Amino acid sequence: MRGVLPPSRAPSHPWSPHFALSTLRSLEDTLHAITISRHGPRSVLEVRESPDPQPGPGEVRIAVAAAGLNFAEIAARQGLYPDAPKPPCVVGYEVAGRVDALGAGVEDLPIGTRVLAMTRFGGHASSVVVPRAFAFPIPDSMSDAHAAAIPVNYLTAHHMLFHLGNLKPHETILLHMAAGGVGTAVLQLVKTVEDVTVIGSASAPKHDYLRSLGCQHPIDYRTQDYAEEVRRITNGRGVDMVLDALGGPDWKTGWNLLAPGGRLMAFGFANMISGGRRNLLRVLRNLVSVPRFSPLAAMEDNRGVFGINMGHLWDEIDLLRPQIERVVALYEEGIVQPQVHAEVPFSEAARAHELIETRQNRGKVVLVPDTV
Ligand SMILES: NC(=O)c1ccc[n+]([C@@H]2O[C@H](COP(=O)([O-])OP(=O)(O)OC[C@H]3O[C@@H](n4cnc5c(N)ncnc54)[C@H](OP(=O)(O)O)[C@@H]3O)[C@@H](O)[C@H]2O)c1
Repeated sequence: MRGVLPPSRAPSHPWSPHFALSTLRSLEDTLHAITISRHGPRSVLEVRESPDPQPGPGEVRIAVAAAGLNFAEIAARQGLYPDAPKPPCVVGYEVAGRVDALGAGVEDLPIGTRVLAMTRFGGHASSVVVPRAFAFPIPDSMSDAHAAAIPVNYLTAHHMLFHLGNLKPHETILLHMAAGGVGTAVLQLVKTVEDVTVIGSASAPKHDYLRSLGCQHPIDYRTQDYAEEVRRITNGRGVDMVLDALGGPDWKTGWNLLAPGGRLMAFGFANMISGGRRNLLRVLRNLVSVPRFSPLAAMEDNRGVFGINMGHLWDEIDLLRPQIERVVALYEEGIVQPQVHAEVPFSEAARAHELIETRQNRGKVVLVPDTV
């Protein structure tokens, strides 16, 4: 068990501006956190130490065994993620581990329970405090790495496909970034619906992998015009759903590829991120190419657009709970099988960022606290 600190020395949120970064006497009391020291290249990442946080009323503390790394955190490091706290800060939206301290009033989650949890930043740390409602017990069969790979990717995928998109049998979807964390989650979840066709864009070396996950039509967006390919594959009809986290001009292209009744899911702006540093010219070019959707055009063409920002939905726990419980049930059925590309120690966080920035990953990159 980690030691208990006097409340005055132990603020409950590691991303709080009052959070003191210092080294404690005993390693057992020390939190290790991947800290974005300032906006910039991967070298700005440092593992810093500070006192373990203490749970307040209604909160639980989790000894983190694995934490998910997401595109958002790459953007946060580059200074391109408006929701992120100001540096120095600890980001991270999801963890898996064991409950090791309970705040007042929490009686239904015993210490020692293995959980996955959503965090609003602070997840890239060896210990994190979350509201009780954000922590979900996991089955023994689920590894820590799998559990840490679930909240962001699978909730995003599930929410888009089923809550917003109402995916139906025999529909066709266009999935960009198909070999990434969200993409592989989508490929698994669509298997719960009969005869869904997935057209997935990814670089060519990932196509066999995509086929093995059930993607019927991989497209190499680097060498092929994906819009032309989609029209060819669908005999000009277009698709029922576009899942687009590229953003900018691709949203317009996706909108134009929708069949009657089609839904465009706008859930990211990866086009803004290039290489290891912020490129303002690229950012501006993409911003000006964001399409302006008109309700009139949507009415005339029978199309719709949804925006998704899961970070802004974390508090909508009644909306998310049934979805996460469904994903965990599908894991037990063997349908959900998180694709973990690599488990990288906190001390090598820069390498973990590099895997995503240089587009090497197939599936999820997971961070694990260093063993001391
Ligand atoms: N709105 C939300 O709540 C939410 C939640 C989760 C994720 N997202 C967004 O969804 C997207 C995918 O997330 P993820 O976690 O699945 O990503 P990921 O696992 O890091 O996958 C990224 C993959 O996408 C491909 N890619 C295509 N265009 C890219 C570009 N312009 N920049 C970088 N990679 C590109 C690369 O593979 P190739 O080799 O095929 O190019 C890369 O390996 C991100 O934009 C993220 O911000 C949004």
